Amino acid sequence: MAAILTKLGNTVIAGIVALVVMFVIVGATAGGGAFDHSWWNFLFRYLHVLSGVMWIGLLYYFNFVQIPNMPNIPDEQKPAIGKVIAPAALFWFRWAAMSTIVTGLIVALMNGYLVDAIAIGFTDGGNSTPIGIGMWLGAIMWFNVWFVIWPNQKRALGIVEADADSKAKSARTAMLFSRTNTLLSVPMLFCMVAQQNAGFVGFGG
Ligand code: HEM
Repeated sequence: MAAILTKLGNTVIAGIVALVVMFVIVGATAGGGAFDHSWWNFLFRYLHVLSGVMWIGLLYYFNFVQIPNMPNIPDEQKPAIGKVIAPAALFWFRWAAMSTIVTGLIVALMNGYLVDAIAIGFTDGGNSTPIGIGMWLGAIMWFNVWFVIWPNQKRALGIVEADADSKAKSARTAMLFSRTNTLLSVPMLFCMVAQQNAGFVGFGG
């Protein structure tokens, strides 16, 4: 057991083995055939939620743990966060955002409402309005991660050259957009789960 839990790579492999066991059990008990449309839809939905948890989990770590506690860390210890923890967290953060939007768009395509959802349900009488709003909120958040937060964090953390003034400004911009994403995550997640569970027509709805 220690060999599984002391090395992250082994923990991830063990998680994947448990996933395969789940797939066999779910595949054996669920209706429909394996590898048909609904099976792939289910797989991408699962990968979507897994990526979303990684993304929003790190977003909440930044906003609920790291940013509020930075002032409590003595100056000589701050580089541990700025030079080590934050860059590692930002790596997983931005790629999880990418994986979330890609898998989310695949799920929408497989559900047959990608265009209707982008049009926020105007084209299908409102059947995809909740997920359409959610997808737009998620897309804005993804844009903020890749085109505002990450470029500003690169300057703020010294990953790219910047003078002290521009570093301070970049840190503030990154913080404000990270806060914006925290705010948007609340209605965004509501829309994600509303599509299927609030009686709207959609895949399985
Ligand atoms: C970034 C853009 C995103 C897009 C394009 C997107 C797209 C979608 C789509 C199409 C669905 C299926 C809705 C349905 O028919 O039931 C969905 C469900 C879902 N999404 Fe997203 N999503 C995005 C972001 C996120 C994020 C950041 C999270 C955070 C965890 C998330 C979590 C979920 C959850 C929990 C569901 C419900 C799964 C279910 O009921 O089976 N999504 N999303």
